[in-house]
Amino acid sequence: MKFKNAIVKKPSKKMVEGISTTNLGKPNYKKALKQHKNYIKALRECGVEVEILEEDEIYPDSMFVEDPAIVTEKCAIITNLGAESRKGEEKEIKSVLKKYYSKNIHEIKYPGTLEGGDVMQVEDHFYIGVSDRTNKDGAKQFINYVEKYNYKGTIVEFEDILHLKTGVAYIGDNTLIVTDTLIDKEEFEDFNKIKINESEKYAANCIRINDYVILPKGYPDTKKDLLKEGFDIKTVDVSEYKKIDGGLSCLSLRF
Ligand code: GLY
Repeated sequence: MKFKNAIVKKPSKKMVEGISTTNLGKPNYKKALKQHKNYIKALRECGVEVEILEEDEIYPDSMFVEDPAIVTEKCAIITNLGAESRKGEEKEIKSVLKKYYSKNIHEIKYPGTLEGGDVMQVEDHFYIGVSDRTNKDGAKQFINYVEKYNYKGTIVEFEDILHLKTGVAYIGDNTLIVTDTLIDKEEFEDFNKIKINESEKYAANCIRINDYVILPKGYPDTKKDLLKEGFDIKTVDVSEYKKIDGGLSCLSLRF
């Protein structure tokens, strides 16, 4: 799939109050802003036009724009976020996506919940993780919508990670980069798999955009493995977003 566009949202000072299950301390806001600029630069270098939404002081996690929507070549699905403090983030994203999708916008409705971090696209197939944020009802609503556009959907159940894409990324060429938690899932048995060391598991949240895989900075073994497999790599430091359970994929919508 050729990506042409990306949407990002600037972090506000409120980001230091983002939901966190890590013991890494509070993010440094100035550093986070600099990292965000570098992230946008990397996206542009991958050949996409980047729309930058202004920060808001209401939602601490709102720069993680991947969660309120799923964008595809044919339609967009606005989610019903599972995290209480994030409910409402989807309103701005919906109005922005109207520019790109006209009528092909659908919405996940209560009692379904779904967050974009739980949805991994592999060509015409979506894998939807059922997590603390995404329930089966939300996953089924999502599959019903995308099937209308000739996509397929498979539900994946797991434990111990926030979102599906906390533990796995599709990086093209039938290849997954995947952590221990998900490596033996039968839903993934037909893929080539690059296994991530436990000590580098954060690097599973990487993104393939056009000719490049963008990896978080500071994960040398993973970088070496990808280079060995012939992938072209860019690295971006997202240490301040890691502190609040976020990563490279969470910071943009790509389509
Ligand atoms: N802090 C990112 C999230 O929990 O959604």
